[in-house]
Amino acid sequence: MSDTTISVRNLYKVFGDDPANAMKLVRDGVSKGELLERTGHVIGLSDINMQIERRQIQVVMGLSGSGKSTLIRHLNRLIDPTEGEIEIDGQDIMAYGEKDLLKFRRHNISMVFQRFALFPHRTVLENIGFGLGTQQRPKDEIKNRALRWIDRVGLSGYEDYFPSQLSGGMQQRVGLARALATDAEILLMDEAFSALDPLIRAEMQTILLDLQEELHKTIVFITHDLDEALHIGDRIAILRDGEIIQDDDPQNIIMKPADDYVADFMKDINRSRVVRARSIMTKLRGTETGPKINAAMILEDVAQVMGKTPNKASIVVNKQGDPVGRLTIAGVIKGMARPDSTGTRIT
Ligand SMILES: Nc1ncnc2c1ncn2[C@@H]1O[C@H](COP(=O)(O)OP(=O)(O)O)[C@@H](O)[C@H]1O
Ligand SMILES: [Mg+2]
Repeated sequence: MSDTTISVRNLYKVFGDDPANAMKLVRDGVSKGELLERTGHVIGLSDINMQIERRQIQVVMGLSGSGKSTLIRHLNRLIDPTEGEIEIDGQDIMAYGEKDLLKFRRHNISMVFQRFALFPHRTVLENIGFGLGTQQRPKDEIKNRALRWIDRVGLSGYEDYFPSQLSGGMQQRVGLARALATDAEILLMDEAFSALDPLIRAEMQTILLDLQEELHKTIVFITHDLDEALHIGDRIAILRDGEIIQDDDPQNIIMKPADDYVADFMKDINRSRVVRARSIMTKLRGTETGPKINAAMILEDVAQVMGKTPNKASIVVNKQGDPVGRLTIAGVIKGMARPDSTGTRIT
């Protein structure tokens, strides 16, 4: 059995009065700008195909207006497509009637919003227990579960506070706990950390990754921030003008950008912090006498280990400790450099 949770096929969304008619032009390949000019219709999404694997964090990245929110909102049917198919766990969610949809949203999928979207007149405890209330669980159980989640996101002691009494970071912990409390397998996060200060944001990323180690949810995480995407994503899809330009392993996106647009996105990243040994290793020769290097190690750490014996090539090993490749200091330096660096620039 394939382990795909979410399958999106040939998905289109056109905004406007007569999307069906505008679709003819879209199918003929008319650009977003041209469609707007000729018909006043806006392409939200164009021929999106995605297979999202269970228990993975799929990041969707793109500039403002590229269609990120439109895409994620299709997954819980806050938006219906102009054309296309969406299957979740083998079920055609477009075929859901009102009752199925309600059940699906209560039990299978939950969402964390950028602006937190907490209930202002409910306490932290009530906010977190809200989804459990809609599942019609007994009061005691709701309270106990909510308390457990409050503890899990580090908010013990704040049970009776109202959202307005909490900082942004704390409010988003409530948002996260509320979404997790229903035990839904799929978690949708639309720029959930974008409104937070950098330090708090980094803290929330850590909380999310720690929780994920334990919970193994299927997470669709939207961001316009490349560093966040690289930190969080098992896989990253890049959207531009409603189209997916590349949907790939993050290392492939860095090392083999699909086009100039993606390459341009990647050009200013600190490669020593994101490129991993496995992405730049070459074939083993059997002559390596340097230290063993873990394939998942970032180059900054590799440099530290190999710098002690710079003339020796290293053996790269996988998780099991089996040799899988070779690394030299020259290779590490090349991996850290921007691909277009000529070495002639002085300033
Ligand atoms: N309800 C709507 N009506 C008309 N155009 C919309 C609507 N919602 C989104 N759009 C347009 O669709 C495109 C994608 O928007 P959105 O998904 O919100 O982008 P993002 O979340 O990446 O910033 C944009 O051009 C936006 O203006
Ligand atoms: Mg958005």
